[in-house]
Amino acid sequence: MKLIVAIIRPDKLNDVLESLYRAEVKGLTVSRVLGHGGETDAVETYRGTTVKMELHEKVRLEIGVSNPFIEVTVRAILEAACTGEVGDGKIFVVPVENVYRIRTKEKDEAAVTPALH
Ligand SMILES: Nc1ncnc2c1ncn2[C@@H]1O[C@H](COP(=O)(O)OP(=O)(O)OP(=O)(O)O)[C@@H](O)[C@H]1O
Ligand SMILES: [Mg+2]
Repeated sequence: MKLIVAIIRPDKLNDVLESLYRAEVKGLTVSRVLGHGGETDAVETYRGTTVKMELHEKVRLEIGVSNPFIEVTVRAILEAACTGEVGDGKIFVVPVENVYRIRTKEKDEAAVTPALH
């Protein structure tokens, strides 16, 4: 299991959600965040050169997936979130120790597989 954390442009959110839906990826968390991609804008101050770190509005997606879904999830985001311009964002694939579905007490694979209602 992995937690796929993607930082994307806010105006790409709908495209990414649609792409994930088509890939049958269900279950995700979306947050508005501020981020910085590492680019530096030098600003002169009376003491010499200092660095201004500008923060940009981004959207953070967190998606817990079982192993068969890692590749399709990453691919769906890579394709839908890309403009080709700097600032498109990043995807982090983070190992997950355990997942529990609180309602049923299911664990791991069973807990990330969408529940049938
Ligand atoms: N190393 C990082 N750790 C955590 N978050 C990051 C990191 N790099 C980028 N981000 C997040 O992703 C957002 C977009 O980053 P950005 O797309 O500018 O990355 P980049 O590596 O500079 O790529 P590009 O060259 O395409 O701009 C940042 O505002 C920040 O929220
Ligand atoms: Mg950047």
